[in-house]
Amino acid sequence: MVDRPRMTTSAGAPVPDNQNSETAGPRGPVLMQDYQLLEKLAHQNRERIPERVVHAKGWGAFGTLTITNDISKYTRANIFSQVGKKTDLLIRFSTVAGELGAADAERDVRGFAMKFYTDEGNWDLVGNNTPVFFVRDPLKFPDFIHTQKRHPKTHLRSKTAMWDFWSQSPESLHQVTTLFSDRGLPVAPMFMNGYGSHTYSFWNNDGERFWVKFHFKTQQGHKFYTNAEAEKIIGESRESYQEELFGTIDRGEFPRWTMQVQIMPEADADKHWYNPFDLTKVWPHGDYPVIEVGVVELNRNADNYFAEIEQAAFSPSNKVPGIGYSPDKMLQARVFSYADAHRYRLGTHYEALPVNAPKVPVHHYHKDGAMRFFPNNANPDAYYEPNSFGGPVEDKSIQEPPLRISGDADRYNHRDGNDDYRQPRDLFNLFDDAQKARLFSNLAAAMDGVPDEIINRQLVHFDLIAKEYGDGIRAARAALGNKRPADAISDEETAAAE
Ligand code: HEM
Repeated sequence: MVDRPRMTTSAGAPVPDNQNSETAGPRGPVLMQDYQLLEKLAHQNRERIPERVVHAKGWGAFGTLTITNDISKYTRANIFSQVGKKTDLLIRFSTVAGELGAADAERDVRGFAMKFYTDEGNWDLVGNNTPVFFVRDPLKFPDFIHTQKRHPKTHLRSKTAMWDFWSQSPESLHQVTTLFSDRGLPVAPMFMNGYGSHTYSFWNNDGERFWVKFHFKTQQGHKFYTNAEAEKIIGESRESYQEELFGTIDRGEFPRWTMQVQIMPEADADKHWYNPFDLTKVWPHGDYPVIEVGVVELNRNADNYFAEIEQAAFSPSNKVPGIGYSPDKMLQARVFSYADAHRYRLGTHYEALPVNAPKVPVHHYHKDGAMRFFPNNANPDAYYEPNSFGGPVEDKSIQEPPLRISGDADRYNHRDGNDDYRQPRDLFNLFDDAQKARLFSNLAAAMDGVPDEIINRQLVHFDLIAKEYGDGIRAARAALGNKRPADAISDEETAAAE
């Protein structure tokens, strides 16, 4: 026993007994002065923090990005500065709707959040396993998420709410088609692609800006579960992703993705039938071919899941010189939303936590608040800016070129003149007969029990993509038979049944 460290209190005092409470006589009661008992109970009561409001269930690991191709003519970002350069990174994968204890193998979009610890600070690319999203205006994001979470009265997920919202939001069709296709239920994180999804921008040393999309193509190949297979998996284990990802890395089999970009010259933005800043659209690869950038490898599991994965805080506001935003409305809202969520979920100085801290020195003038443990600037008199005491100063050399925007301030109808059917049709046409059959039956199952009025409104949209699409779902619904919606049972009926 001599070589084991001596147990202490959190204040460092040695602990004589961690088995028996201090009591008045062997039968109790316990004494209030047994502070270590009180401290243990009090700590336990504080072991949870709020779960993420979305993407609560997740799996993560650390690794590297290695650059394999020179794209420095598009961006001055240090991370891309030379072939062979390696940058440490963290990826957290997640489902969107399920809570912290949700089963892993559920049909849902998967989060693909990346934190690159670059030489010029952290760059977070907080993407999904799909290149598009359900909505294109951030004003609709909270409404959309409410339809994915629990009904306020029944406390059940509501298919009716989902289809009610989607059927009145045709911009969701592209993502809905992806979600109910094979890609909506990957076997494990390493068998899916990642996408930055939004249009971001690159800027180079000459002050030129390029629009850019980011892609991470799995080198393990795509593997998906059918609904029936997933039901069986969930029956056996609710943690199939954690088991697969952790186990794979633990065995030294490191999953990899090829990083690619699509680059659009700044002036091209007005040239297309689609708005390149619309998050419900992809850029056809024929217009903008993918360019290889590097290889992402995951090769290290976290030592402490809570400290390094649960407390990881990703935010699109974390960008580095050479990488910028675009006019994408959704992206603009996300730049605010994530850091705000972290201040609530983790606390004021969440970026000082080891997993979130950059691997370069940090010199800012933020001052006090919960968990302020990091040191002052070298000279304690330099606690405001400008100062005459040698405190950190700005560096104009990394000033981003102006982002050209124009227009009158107004609330523009984002559905005006927007073709929400063409790209879902292109996607649908890529599916073979077996893929289409699974798409139809997945959709029919997801609609089962939803009131006819809502289903019919949605089917019109599928018809507008392709008659074969709408009819395929109709046939799959007929094969399934119609069930009643659980959330359509009235109060009167519930009372009568009691
Ligand atoms: C998580 C907001 C759209 C990907 C979150 C969180 C918030 C949020 C508040 C929880 C953050 C936390 O507590 O750590 C929003 C808003 C959106 C939006 C307001 C639109 C206006 C998107 C889109 C994507 C995305 C379009 C993907 C392209 C993610 C991912 C996470 C996340 C991957 C989990 C990050 C992690 O692993 O910690 N989002 N989101 N979100 N969001 Fe979004």
